[in-house]
Formats: sequence, C-alpha cells, structure tokens
Amino acid sequence: MKGIVLAGGRGTRLYPATYSVNKHLLPIYDKPMIYYPLSVLMLSGIRDILIISTPQDTDRFRKVLGDGSYLGIRLQYEVQNEPRGIADAFVVGSHFVGDGPVALILGDNFFFGHGLPDILRRRKQEVEEKGGAYIFAYYVQNPSAYGVVEFDADWNVISIEEKPENPRSNYAITGLYFFDSRVVEVASSIPPSRRGEKEITDVLNAYLDAKSLRVQLLGRGFAWLDMGTHDSMLEASVFVSTIEKRQGLKIGCIEEVAYRMGWIDREGLLRVARRYSNSGYGEYLLRLAEGRIL
Ligand code: G1P
Repeated sequence: MKGIVLAGGRGTRLYPATYSVNKHLLPIYDKPMIYYPLSVLMLSGIRDILIISTPQDTDRFRKVLGDGSYLGIRLQYEVQNEPRGIADAFVVGSHFVGDGPVALILGDNFFFGHGLPDILRRRKQEVEEKGGAYIFAYYVQNPSAYGVVEFDADWNVISIEEKPENPRSNYAITGLYFFDSRVVEVASSIPPSRRGEKEITDVLNAYLDAKSLRVQLLGRGFAWLDMGTHDSMLEASVFVSTIEKRQGLKIGCIEEVAYRMGWIDREGLLRVARRYSNSGYGEYLLRLAEGRIL
C-alpha cells in the first residue's frame, strides 16, 4: 500500500503565523507538524509516500524531507493548486496511486496510543487482501466539527455525515483512511459540495453504499488530536512535551521509526544525528544509535 500526506491549504485561519510558512511545517513542540502524520504512515509499514502541498510550499517540504532515502522510504511531491477538498488528493495523486491500494492521512492529525502500530498494520493488510475501505472513529465532545459516523446496536455503520449541525453520534471520523484501488475513480466522479470541495465523506458514503466500508474504533486509551488551530497546536505541543519529558522517548520521531523498522542502519541514523547535532533532537538520535534508549 502507498500513502499520501495532505499538507496543502493556505492556512488563512492561522494568519499571520502561516503567512509565509505552511502550517504543517510549524513546530509541534520539538519537530515540524508533518513528522507526526508521516510517522503514522511509516508505522503502518508504508514506504512509498506522496506529499501534496501548495505550489509555494512544496519545495520547503522537499528541503526538510528530501526524497526520503535517509529514512529508507521514497517521498514524492505533488502540487494542489487550489484547495479543492480532501478527496481531491486522489485526483491530484492519481498517477502516484496507480491501480493499488492507498492510505491517506491529513497533515494536521495527531495519533498516539499503545498498540496503534499493530492496529494500523492489521487494517492495512485487510484492505490489501479484501479490498474496501477502513476508517478510524474516535469519541469526541464536539462531533459537529468533524465527519460523524453513526452505528447501530451491532456497530454496523448506518450513516456518515460531514460536520452535521445535529450529530447522530459522538464518533468523529479521524483523518486517516485506508482505501482499495477504486478510490481514484470514486473520488473523480463525486461532484464538489456546496462549499465547492470534494468531500471525503462523499467518498466514504460511496463505499458505505457499496457495503465496503469498515470502521475501527480508537478507544479512550488513544489520543487523537487536531493541530489545525492555535489552541489545538498548543495543546498538542503540551501533550508531546509532557510525554516526551516523562519517558525520555520521542513521539513522531521519523528517524527512530525508520531505524526500528529496519529501514535504515546505525550508520544512517548517525548521519542524521550529526546533521542535527546541536539540538536535543540530534542528541536523542545519537543516544538511540548508541543503544542508550529503551
Ligand atoms: C476533515 C474531514 C472530516 C474529518 C476531519 C478530521 O475536516 O472533512 O470529515 O473528520 O478532517 O480531522 P477538516 O478538519 O479538514 O475541516
């Protein structure tokens, strides 16, 4: 399965903070925001990844992450000229996706929790073997801000709605989706919504109608956070700093993920550690390479 990180948008809601820098390059505590969703794809076992961003920002992402070879992965970049909706990612990325399954993660989504990598790998494998789509739902206090999934008593999906005024459940649909190869065709054929965007929930409804949508609940032991507003960025930063300081282990450390997945060796890890040698981040990578971490 390939993967897409959607890191576009003008970020006007965060102006002036994002006037000259893409939101997904702003720091969440000690690393750029995009590290977190990128690490989620990597933890799912995905190594072939497309980053979609705006014409002016794509080169900045390239500067930070390059072609991914230092992480043992393959990164490509594609431009979305106008923010035409989440589902447009499959249209923009159709050549990249080709005729295989694909994961999509929104660049401002944060996931954390024990056992998450196992869940991700299982669900990815299921989509690869059986087709269909897998989404992840999380109980929230303010479902109206999200896509909302409604279940019957047996946890079958009854409805999917985008930001409903009167939500039928508290289960928000998170910004991580695993799809089979049909998604490009489905996304291409759905019309833009009233706000002029191709809505991901319309794609999900097409899969629901075809009885090929499955949902994995992420229980209360997981953290699913937004990083799309000033407050949520601050809250995510505090969350990361709290856990990182307590454990001395990092969250969303893409080099650590690459190393533990066996995609780069000790030498490769040391090379990045040297690049960042003046920072606590570089120091962490060095300790990791020396076997002084967990
Ligand atoms: C998007 C999706 C929504 C989903 C959310 C998750 O909304 O449209 O269905 O629940 O991401 O972050 P946005 O936050 O981009 O408005």
